[in-house]
Amino acid sequence: MKNLAVDPPSVSSRRSFLQKGIAAGAVGIGVGFTLLEESSSLLADVSKETGGSLTKGDAALLRFAAAAEILESDFWLQYNELGGIQDKEVPGGSGNPVYTAKLKNLDEDFDQYIHDNTDDEISHFTFLNAYLESRGAAGVNLDQFRTLQGSTATGVNQELIGKRLTNLTQLTLDTSWWTRYRSSNHNPDLDPAFKFPQAVPDLHKGQFTAIPRNDADLSPDAHIQAIANTAGFHMPTIEQGGTSLYPSMAQRATSVEVLRILISIGPTETMHFQTWSDKAGAAVSPPLAPLTDPTNGLTFPDLNSPPFGGELFQTNLIMPEPCPFLTRKLPKCSIIRPTNTNGVATGVVKFLTSMGLFIGQSKEFFELLLDLAAEADAATRECD
Ligand SMILES: [Fe+2]
Ligand SMILES: [Fe+2]
Repeated sequence: MKNLAVDPPSVSSRRSFLQKGIAAGAVGIGVGFTLLEESSSLLADVSKETGGSLTKGDAALLRFAAAAEILESDFWLQYNELGGIQDKEVPGGSGNPVYTAKLKNLDEDFDQYIHDNTDDEISHFTFLNAYLESRGAAGVNLDQFRTLQGSTATGVNQELIGKRLTNLTQLTLDTSWWTRYRSSNHNPDLDPAFKFPQAVPDLHKGQFTAIPRNDADLSPDAHIQAIANTAGFHMPTIEQGGTSLYPSMAQRATSVEVLRILISIGPTETMHFQTWSDKAGAAVSPPLAPLTDPTNGLTFPDLNSPPFGGELFQTNLIMPEPCPFLTRKLPKCSIIRPTNTNGVATGVVKFLTSMGLFIGQSKEFFELLLDLAAEADAATRECD
């Protein structure tokens, strides 16, 4: 018998963050993304098409995904305001020419990719919330946590200063995905204790900004380049997380439609990851690398030269290396990893928290996020 969840789970303090109306779900970012009027009538049509209620587990999986996508949208928008393409599809900023030029040292199309990644994330949370609500389940609204300062540098949306959800200025990045995807002998699902080497060890030690915090960060040259390089590593670090999250959660979906949603959004995260992992390579190869930020010593090594180089570090190796999968008795296979489903949502919250992405957020914020994660992790695949 399916455990139907028309309403969100029991914790009453959470109700104010969960929403019934599609309107609230679409407000999210604060400017320009309102679907409000069009969507009310759309909602009625969608209900007719889909019908039926979600299981409690399916609703929890999609709700956690929606929360993660709102958080992603928030920081991608910060990147876009400063270093992306400014247009009506992703409005709000006016661009920072110095930062944008440094990002373009990694790839001349960097601003376009930032723009398109931002557009994708906004569409992800907007769709997930609308879908949940079309099925009588609550969506997610994190607007009350939009309290962080963010950048005040030239180019940001002045209206959103002090209204950010995420913090891009004190990041500690685990760059071990670089060697995890190049390793042919280790898979984190089979070797949970194995420590994959870091690509940029310094990024894993201190706290670094991925955006200019204000115009004083725009010089000296090596400082703002190091900030752009930090963004160049933050982007794939985030997107490899989404690349694992969706297939991990999909294994516990009950309805085929929810499974379809998870396995259709998930690979777009992988497309983001693949693109950004290629761009990150430019930050750790000549002519940009090696580079040291004179203000804090953060160093981006040349990963093609000793003591780096070889299959674990070479910068043009951007396809996943085949590795053990499920069991070492079977042949190696080129796969996304990890995809172990147990505790994945809680693991993602811990991963983003230790990255520093939420520094400055309130106790209530972490409680809500961990609550949503625990409910997603409790979802089980149910049979009819
Ligand atoms: Fe996304
Ligand atoms: Fe993403």
